[in-house]
Amino acid sequence: MKYTVVPALNDEEFGEKAADVFLRALGSFEKTPSVVLPTGNTPLPFFAVLRERAQSQALRPFNSLQLDEYLGLPDGDARLFSRWLAHEVLDPLKISSRMIFNSAADPSEEVNRIKAWHALNGAMDLAVIGIGENGHVGFNEPGAKFDHRANIVTLSGQTIEANTSYGRGDVPRKAITLGIGDLRRAYETILLVRGERKAEILAKAMLGEVTTDIPASYLQQQPRLTIVADTAALSKMPRDIIFK
Ligand code: GLP
Repeated sequence: MKYTVVPALNDEEFGEKAADVFLRALGSFEKTPSVVLPTGNTPLPFFAVLRERAQSQALRPFNSLQLDEYLGLPDGDARLFSRWLAHEVLDPLKISSRMIFNSAADPSEEVNRIKAWHALNGAMDLAVIGIGENGHVGFNEPGAKFDHRANIVTLSGQTIEANTSYGRGDVPRKAITLGIGDLRRAYETILLVRGERKAEILAKAMLGEVTTDIPASYLQQQPRLTIVADTAALSKMPRDIIFK
């Protein structure tokens, strides 16, 4: 196994360790790195530690790239991932360089704009991602091709249900996501996983067949991958992989 697993005992340790891994990765790039950050419940302790550290030390700036976004929401809507990320991490860290998706734009024009942007700017440096219970990454649902670039997706019932837990109102049915084809090109990847309900899919994604049925299984082929996960999420991973 080529990847490194960083286990954490609880949310606090998860946040600290994820921040350590992230800041070390940021510091390893010569130029200001381009970075994808995830939304969702998983990264919240990590963002909390970044906010805390930003108060006592100058953190390295980065260019933020959006990973995914619901479609059809107006500016300022509380469900917008761009707004969530801004509030949780980008504003507090004073990250002003942001490549944001426009939820209210014409979807196919917006996808073309995002594709053109990525074609012009090249591969991202660092992808920090989460994983859905069905193995989705970003909004790449099961079946998404590994060479897909930015595209419009119809969310699965399971994802809609999972995202209802964010408590921000009705979950839109359609979204835009960077494709696995974009994420695979990242120089370095950090996967954040928290909670017992992710244990099974994490083990399947990392130990099973590499298949589009489990989009996150592409991670097995990433050259530089660190998994930061709590012990509950790691409960179905063999000990020799965790403690190499
Ligand atoms: C959401 C997001 C993903 C996120 C995943 C897991 O639908 N589109 O970017 O990583 O599902 O979310 P959570 O961390 O809340 O379990």
